[in-house]
Amino acid sequence: MTNSTATGGADDSARTAYGAPPGTSHSAAHSTAQSTPHSTAITRIGSLLTNDPSLRTPDNPLGLLQDAAVVIEGDRVVWTGTSSKAPATDSHHDAGGRALLPGFVDSHAHLVFAGDRTAEFHARMSGRPYTAGGIRTTVAATRAASDAELSANVARYLAEALRQGTTTQETKSGYGLTTRDEARALRIAAGHTDEVTYLGAHVVAPEFADDPAAYVALVTGGMLDACAPHARWIDVFCERGAFDGDQARAVLTAGAARGLIPRVHANQLSHGPGVQLAVELDAASADHCTHLTDADVDALAGAPRTVATLLPGAEFSTRAVYPDARRLLDAGVTVALSTDCNPGSSFTSSMAFCVAVAVRDMGMTPDEAVVAATLGGARALRRTDIGAIVPGARADLHLLDAPSHVHLAYRPGVPLTAAVWQAGEKRV
Ligand code: NIG
Ligand code: FE
Repeated sequence: MTNSTATGGADDSARTAYGAPPGTSHSAAHSTAQSTPHSTAITRIGSLLTNDPSLRTPDNPLGLLQDAAVVIEGDRVVWTGTSSKAPATDSHHDAGGRALLPGFVDSHAHLVFAGDRTAEFHARMSGRPYTAGGIRTTVAATRAASDAELSANVARYLAEALRQGTTTQETKSGYGLTTRDEARALRIAAGHTDEVTYLGAHVVAPEFADDPAAYVALVTGGMLDACAPHARWIDVFCERGAFDGDQARAVLTAGAARGLIPRVHANQLSHGPGVQLAVELDAASADHCTHLTDADVDALAGAPRTVATLLPGAEFSTRAVYPDARRLLDAGVTVALSTDCNPGSSFTSSMAFCVAVAVRDMGMTPDEAVVAATLGGARALRRTDIGAIVPGARADLHLLDAPSHVHLAYRPGVPLTAAVWQAGEKRV
């Protein structure tokens, strides 16, 4: 299969070229490989959600194709179009009229941890409020765990997410809070995913409770030296009880000076300077965005490179008020949805759950929520090779046991994932 440029009715010259993942020099579908990689056609797709910029119009904002096919060659999508016109391939998968969409891109999670916080959740659901202090419980369990245990936990949650359609998973450190434990968390995470975030500034380590400035000096000094080689991103929990605006700025600028790209836990539990700081520092993402002023919304609207990443699992599991996605979307802000999977505030790996809550309680339409969970996540990770099904993109595909992506919100809690391809390989 060599013709990799046709798609259903689109003008190829208008198509946005899809890029390579970070740290690679992949030349997408047009490379002159020594041997032609294996090709597969997925045919009879009832509803193909492409997010293809050359197919997206006001009438068809998702770039939907009906009765469609996708051709994969190696790890890439090389063709999309009408099913009956699909070119010959080495193998073939009949979608049986069901819906196919890009794999979910979960751009915010905390998977390197040990233990869980069932008792804290139970107490919270019995009336106790959520505070950042619970993080220290997981810090103690994580420090006590072996590398093998932590690595097995990351693998387990990644596999759990994959079974639910997530093909790209970011994960952070932040439950070590010593140079050794933060660096080991990142090293372990990097063994499982490319999207690794240094979050030494999650909360002040217990040993530094009386001297937060000394902890910030460590996070921006020796700990950063040990952690930077293993991470792509730097994050900080900018919140009362964690780090204030000046401390957060110090952390993020130190990381940026070492080549890490900022992202911020911003305005989660209360209003604070996090969102403005994210915009000021050209962060890839301001995450949570639950408590926003009009000035915050305007700042995000004026900074298209800083994605507002909403994490409904956190509000669900802390019984808090949800962020107002409608307000952000109406202002023209780019929105992503992610799980925030962590043992304290949001112990879910289900992007479908986040989509359903965002539609039910955050003012998103089903279309907007699914775009936010795929293309939005890709934008939050500054990735152009994922989040859309378009020639040249990585072949990350999610087949639903449903005729439409709308079922993700319409049938909440139902395991709809029928098959998943990750980088062209059928994993589920
Ligand atoms: O994103 N907000 C800070 N970090 C996590 C919570 C982590 C925890 O409670 O263990 C969050 O919600
Ligand atoms: Fe988080």
